[in-house]
Amino acid sequence: MNPYDQFKQEGRTEIDAMGRDEKLTELSLQWINFANTRKYSYHFVWQGRPVIQYPQDMVAMQELIWQIKPDLIVETGIAHGGSLIFSASMLALLDMYDAIETGEKFDPKISQRKVLGIDIDIRTHNRAAIEAHPMASRVQMIQGSSIAPETIEQVHAIAANHSRILICLDSNHTHDHVLAELQAYAPLTSKDSYCVVFDTVIEDMPKEMFPNRPWGPDNNPKTAVREYLKTHPEFEIDKSIQHKLQITVAPDGYLKRIN
Ligand SMILES: C[S@@+](CC[C@H](N)C(=O)[O-])C[C@H]1O[C@@H](n2cnc3c(N)ncnc32)[C@H](O)[C@@H]1O
Repeated sequence: MNPYDQFKQEGRTEIDAMGRDEKLTELSLQWINFANTRKYSYHFVWQGRPVIQYPQDMVAMQELIWQIKPDLIVETGIAHGGSLIFSASMLALLDMYDAIETGEKFDPKISQRKVLGIDIDIRTHNRAAIEAHPMASRVQMIQGSSIAPETIEQVHAIAANHSRILICLDSNHTHDHVLAELQAYAPLTSKDSYCVVFDTVIEDMPKEMFPNRPWGPDNNPKTAVREYLKTHPEFEIDKSIQHKLQITVAPDGYLKRIN
């Protein structure tokens, strides 16, 4: 076996062992719970835009984008636009590498690869900053509820022009809302791509963490994923990602389309 394959094989064994390590999982969750009291996920910035994610999940997303090489990433939940700009910049790199391989000229503003963001409330200052960003030509935004029929229709019409699609759900975190988003958007996920459902970790956190939120344990993205998967065998949870990350807001939320 060549040294790289050997390194990968050792890594898989080590990740499997982390997945079985109850102490590590418990300590990671304890850390997440404690860090949440400090609003840990609100303090990161991607190329000038605040991104409400854990760095660990962003590295996992980078790995998925490299693996899938999507031509469309659909994201529900824009907020300050950090995750949109993150995805757009990853797609720009894919285009640049394609140009290096084919010898064609790389124009960062011309691409078939796009990010489509949906938010019920795109604040004026956030929209202005996203539109002024160097990655703006790759970003399209729809303002509206992600589960409104007219939004779903627009997203499907745009998706019809793309063939490798990655979906990220990160808007309203109630069970009913996420289930409706899964029903609307998970079918757009291409085979071997992913539908990533963020904030499934809410199920594993204490109820008191969410005093002013409609979601909490028993009513959150993980409960929606469980329900959706009962009738959608074309998806499976890629546990290797959460076993590797340990610190993640999306345990059981990395759904791989296998059929
Ligand atoms: C957690 S933030 C998104 C964070 C963003 N993905 C990031 O990584 O920086 C959630 C966003 O979902 C939006 N939202 C809430 N309800 C929604 C709905 N019904 N449809 C679409 N977006 C919604 C909120 O306005 C908010 O901007």
